Amino acid sequence: YQRENFLKQSEGQLPLFNTDPRKMEERAKEKLSEGGWYYASSNAGMSTTHLANRQAFHRHRLIPNQLVDTNTRSTKTTIFNHTVSAPIGFAPIGINKIYHPSGESAVATVASELNLPYCLSTAASTSIENVASANGTGPRFFQLYMPHDDELTISLLTRAWENGFDALILTTDTWQLGWRHDDVATSNYAFYRGFGAEMGLEDPVFRKRCQADGIDPDVDVVKASVKWIDSVWHGRAWGWDKIPWLMETWKRISGGRPFAIKGIQSVGDARKCVELGVDGIVVSNHAGRQVDGAVASLDALERIVEAVGDKIYVMFDSGVRGASDVVKALALGARFVFIGRLWIWGLSIQGEEGVRHVMKSLLADLDILMGVAGFNGVDDFNRDILESGPKNY
Ligand code: FNR
Repeated sequence: YQRENFLKQSEGQLPLFNTDPRKMEERAKEKLSEGGWYYASSNAGMSTTHLANRQAFHRHRLIPNQLVDTNTRSTKTTIFNHTVSAPIGFAPIGINKIYHPSGESAVATVASELNLPYCLSTAASTSIENVASANGTGPRFFQLYMPHDDELTISLLTRAWENGFDALILTTDTWQLGWRHDDVATSNYAFYRGFGAEMGLEDPVFRKRCQADGIDPDVDVVKASVKWIDSVWHGRAWGWDKIPWLMETWKRISGGRPFAIKGIQSVGDARKCVELGVDGIVVSNHAGRQVDGAVASLDALERIVEAVGDKIYVMFDSGVRGASDVVKALALGARFVFIGRLWIWGLSIQGEEGVRHVMKSLLADLDILMGVAGFNGVDDFNRDILESGPKNY
């Protein structure tokens, strides 16, 4: 990708747009409706957690090595039995049609083309079946927001499995949206939950639920969509006692494929996942959108890896804005990193082309960084390549 880029530059061609995250954010703001912008950009409270996520990356610096033969370096790695291009995946993001009419299908198309894992949100605006067809043979996982309706959960998991989503990631931190001032002040929830939630509307169990409420999902699309989003962000907490049921149900449906929990920030919760036999965790604070003033995700990662890093597959997200952040998270013990806002900005600016440009640029950034800093593969990322300053609260 980097050579492709440099070749274009040498011919005087400009890239599609500047991939500096700050500049992309500005462009996306210009492109999006007010509601779309608030949904994408708002964080919990004063954005303290969002800022802490970024600050935590500044605490660690990479130590490059010179004159290393990196000519045959590779960014490749494996996740849940898939060999993929890089330790970088598409984080689950809800309601993509807010950002661009091509929505989830555009993103899943690019993920497959780049051989990076795609994670489909339960709050998606495109059905499981349509995303699967856009994603083709690409590696893909299903992210569950667990409704308080077991029959519906089973139906979703069955559809996901039958359509090639071969790992389940349960998100535990967002059964209720956090207090996000901009969203609250504009009653934005009323805006975005109306976006055609094909995901629900095409589900046979959910259609039954609509009919029971006198809603014809083919006619009262907005009402059905609102009902769907309300059953996803339902506002009623689950407890750890539900996890064995979900894990067993998924394992039975999928023939034993991996089950992971996303949203883990405490060592205690990470230990519980190990005790319950969960296959993986995503250390994440939902990009700082749920609990204002929470610990930085990267700081949580460090502690969690120390406690259980050798017992469970640890993944990471929240605040990654470039290749050096990916390398730092892996050096601290994450095995894989997910990206959210970067590709949302790409999708908002220029649909499928925009997502492709952002993710190819990130891959080029990673490849170049590894080359010039003396790293040949993901196994070279460990604590020795970091100089870590004191925690800066
Ligand atoms: C999210 N995230 C999220 N997570 C999830 O499990 N299901 C979802 O539907 C969504 N939706 C969503 C929408 C928007 C607009 C954002 C910004 C985030 C959280 C997401 O998966 C991931 O944890 C963070 O986005 C990662 O942080 P960065 O890369 O955005 O900083």
